[in-house]
Amino acid sequence: MHLIDLIARKRDGGRITADEWRTFAVEYSADGYPDYQVSALLMAIFFRGLDGEETYALMDAMLKSGGRLDFSHLGIPVVDKHSTGGVGDKVSIVLAPLVAACGLAVPMMSGRGLGHTGGTLDKLEAIPGFNTRLSMAEAKAQVERLGCALIGQTGEIAPADKKLYALRDATATVEVIPLIAASIMSKKLAEGLNGLVLDVKTGAGAFMPQLDRALTLAQTMVDIGERCGCPTVALMTCMDHPLGVACGNAIEIEESIDVLRGGGPADTREVTLALGAEMLVLAKLAPDAGEARLLLEDALADGRGLEKLRAIVSAQGGDPRVVDDPQAVLPQAKAQALVVAHHPGIVQRVEPRVLGRGIIALGGGRTTMEDEVDPSVGFRVLVRPGTHVTRGTPLAAVLAKDAAGLAIGEACVRSAVVMGEDEVTAPALITHRVDARGVHEL
Ligand code: URA
Repeated sequence: MHLIDLIARKRDGGRITADEWRTFAVEYSADGYPDYQVSALLMAIFFRGLDGEETYALMDAMLKSGGRLDFSHLGIPVVDKHSTGGVGDKVSIVLAPLVAACGLAVPMMSGRGLGHTGGTLDKLEAIPGFNTRLSMAEAKAQVERLGCALIGQTGEIAPADKKLYALRDATATVEVIPLIAASIMSKKLAEGLNGLVLDVKTGAGAFMPQLDRALTLAQTMVDIGERCGCPTVALMTCMDHPLGVACGNAIEIEESIDVLRGGGPADTREVTLALGAEMLVLAKLAPDAGEARLLLEDALADGRGLEKLRAIVSAQGGDPRVVDDPQAVLPQAKAQALVVAHHPGIVQRVEPRVLGRGIIALGGGRTTMEDEVDPSVGFRVLVRPGTHVTRGTPLAAVLAKDAAGLAIGEACVRSAVVMGEDEVTAPALITHRVDARGVHEL
């Protein structure tokens, strides 16, 4: 197959067949096409799109380019959650051990920081010794033993997606609904799931800020999951401001542990419980979301979720004492300072993108794949849209490596926290539920 024919056809608005996608995925995984031609194809797709059949065929071809986990012998439901990404989104770190403690098997495959968003793998690696690079065989054995593994995409899982994703990142072709849907679903369906819950973010800090586009993304992924026999539900959650208080790597681990101890910010806890309830219902461990929440709250209250995290950290080479005394175990920023309000007013917005880019500027994220991440830096965001402040009210704490970092962090906070005089109602945290029957407003 000559890739130039596909490029020309897509450029002119034509379709690519399932057979062609299969050949493409096999050849591209084996380095059979030069990146400049694949880049041209991606840009043609950016402008021309893919229809439903093409999207499914691309997903299927990428899924079959690698291996698949199989837990059918376990006799317990295997369900995962995936988030489309945001700032302060540490839900996976709380949720995976919590639902595993309730009886689910969770082979959770996460990503690294991408653009302005943080990545679960970078956060987990803030725990000294924690190894996210398990092979498929190691992850499978851990899920069989503990009910949960927290891992990254290996070269064994959807390798065509792994290569294509890196190229999209470098060619400004990430924000294409069919490509995002095919990419996410090819990886998730490789986990051998009985159910999947998607956290699709909307709002200023989401990759798809507009609700209608985010809903289309959710529906596309739900359709793919259902077509593959994997019941899939999406919740649309707010990313107009950061989730919770902590934004950074080590401090998000600390906040996750707070939530597993029964505390933590209300919004982090609420999104975790809502997604967890969907997972337990899909797994048929609870008849409805209300009953499921009670199971989750029990596992928080009696510490089973926290103990499951301890077991996972220990199994993956991390220091398990992190769950008892996070600050003693996690790397701490050398320089810390509060940024306070200069004038009285009402917080209008807290811009997640500005804070996300701020974390990168402080050294807590990457601008190239080779960059080292400083896990200790970040922000504790102490105000929300609608918060009334007086002169001197702390807006955020900056965690940096030195005085220059504190200055960068303060400038970020002052630009991210937009003040005004109007009363503001904080946007709803969870607005829609999308399932096989359609979109339901909550
Ligand atoms: N996450 C993925 O895994 N793939 C995308 O295309 C976007 C986000």
